[in-house]
Amino acid sequence: MLPETLSIKVTPTAHSRIGEVDFENLPFGRIFSDHMLVMDYRDGEWQQPEIMAFGNLSLHPATSAIHYGQSIFEGMKANKAEDGEILIFRPDMNAHRFKESCERMCMPTIPDDVFIELVRKIVEVDKNWVPSKEGDSLYIRPYMFATDDFIGIKPSETYKFVIFTCPVGAYYSEPVNVKIEEFYTRASAGGVGRAKTAGNYGAALFPAKQGQLKGFHQLVWTDSKEHKYIEESGTMNIVFVINGVLVTPSEETDTILRGVTKRSVIEVAQSWGIPVEERKVSVEEIVNAIKDGSLTDAFGAGTAATIAPIVKIGFRDEVLNLPPLEGREISIKIKNYLDDLKGGKVEDTHGWCLHV
Ligand code: COI
Repeated sequence: MLPETLSIKVTPTAHSRIGEVDFENLPFGRIFSDHMLVMDYRDGEWQQPEIMAFGNLSLHPATSAIHYGQSIFEGMKANKAEDGEILIFRPDMNAHRFKESCERMCMPTIPDDVFIELVRKIVEVDKNWVPSKEGDSLYIRPYMFATDDFIGIKPSETYKFVIFTCPVGAYYSEPVNVKIEEFYTRASAGGVGRAKTAGNYGAALFPAKQGQLKGFHQLVWTDSKEHKYIEESGTMNIVFVINGVLVTPSEETDTILRGVTKRSVIEVAQSWGIPVEERKVSVEEIVNAIKDGSLTDAFGAGTAATIAPIVKIGFRDEVLNLPPLEGREISIKIKNYLDDLKGGKVEDTHGWCLHV
């Protein structure tokens, strides 16, 4: 258990690297802020969290996460408002999902309020790294992995929880082309598809590469049993607009990642009176809706990807072109609203932003 009163040891770096960064041209995920937070779990409890200079971790060659995959992570973003205030978007949702991933992967949990405070603190320490440029953000990456130096299959008794941050530009610099995957599988019923665990991403690399060789940025995963129903895309959840209704695969199957951006899209749409259906979405329905013109929009929703318009969908030997971006009023309106909310430009009526 964590101490009642959370005390975080902070040792600031002696050499900030911020002067070396070109904030006008930020790539995604290659530039790391000055500090990281590290908290170890041993003897059945979390130890004191420490914020220190960003740097390499030293690992035993038998570190069990590397061999047996107890490794989970989260992703969220902080943005700077015009008045300089820093806002973190819905960290409570990430705290909750992180706990669910811990439970599924047999790892110790971190109370939501502690998780949120650790995230807030590392952002506060590196607040100068939060970009000001429109569209850029500070990406926050909390993760946890098993650290027992032991060969054998059992839950580790020791873990490391780390948070680092990266100033980032757009994940996708252009609208995306996706391919419906009917052979490989991301997740199956009873598996770990709902957990944000490292292996889900590693297992997707080979199939995704096959799609990339054919010119697609990402795959659209289908159910593992029949490959008949759409689940999610590689880096994001997927949402369609058909006859004015926002349609997205239901999470009931437990094979889909419970996306924070997707949930926000749904909640905003509902609050504006836009009809939303979370249900089974068949490949056949989507292909027919593209062909008969009733599908007017399709987009990915993810923390890194934000709202990523989809312009082409590959299905078997066909490449189906989606309607032009200009006519996509619903997703454009939702994206603009969410961007404004994250940047403090509109009143946060939902109470979604944490002020650092
Ligand atoms: C995120 O959206 O935060 C993810 O973890 C996905 C990854 C493509 C960066």
